Amino acid sequence: MSDASSYLAAVRGSYDTVADAYAEVVPPPSALDPLSRAMLGAFAEEMGGAQAPVADVGCGPGKVAAYLAERAGVDVVGIDLSPRMVTLARRAHPELAFVVGSMTALPVLDAALAGVLAYYSTHHMPPELLPTVYAEFRRVLAPGGRLMIAGHVGEDDGEGECRHRTEAYGGLPVSYDSHFLPPGRIVRLLEEAGFVVTARLTQEPAPGQTRRYGTFLAVSP
Ligand SMILES: C[S@@+](CC[C@H](N)C(=O)[O-])C[C@H]1O[C@@H](n2cnc3c(N)ncnc32)[C@H](O)[C@@H]1O
Repeated sequence: MSDASSYLAAVRGSYDTVADAYAEVVPPPSALDPLSRAMLGAFAEEMGGAQAPVADVGCGPGKVAAYLAERAGVDVVGIDLSPRMVTLARRAHPELAFVVGSMTALPVLDAALAGVLAYYSTHHMPPELLPTVYAEFRRVLAPGGRLMIAGHVGEDDGEGECRHRTEAYGGLPVSYDSHFLPPGRIVRLLEEAGFVVTARLTQEPAPGQTRRYGTFLAVSP
């Protein structure tokens, strides 16, 4: 097994382990902070009436996919590495399609999608895999298709940071990394993959917290 495939297997196993606890604690998008909700709302508005489906990549238990489907009135397919997450998503949202798959090799035909959303999932990918992931997003998007990525980011002028976790969601055993890249590096990698980045928002840590969040909107020409 290559380093990349054994890392993906560890992420899959970790999210299988925490899926039920995660689904219980993660708030629905309607409970997000106003700026995050506004960015998701802007993406949903952009997707409104799209003729082709939109993929929620790293969909977890499907709460964001369901929100997007309702707000945009489009077909949404949720894709997640963790089979347990997909089972929970199907159970909670039987009207939507959910499939097991990795963002490194999406189970989707070329140019089949109007949009791709990756909500707090790409930060688990090692930076050296991001060109593959972003190339996959480009491959599956139709010309003019839209991409939204949201997740943890690092300082603007830092090197980025990697945190390894061995426990999550109430002490459950996991083994995965979270990469906090400078937002400018994410923009550069998206541009190198051929995307036109149309917006980026960074949110500073809330009082008493340490995490910075980034949201990126891009078009696949
Ligand atoms: C923090 S959760 C976010 C879930 C969901 N997007 C949400 O906002 O509630 C990260 C999700 O990304 C998934 N994930 C991690 N690496 C992935 C990959 N390579 N391909 C697809 N999904 C992946 C995990 O299984 C997990 O469900």
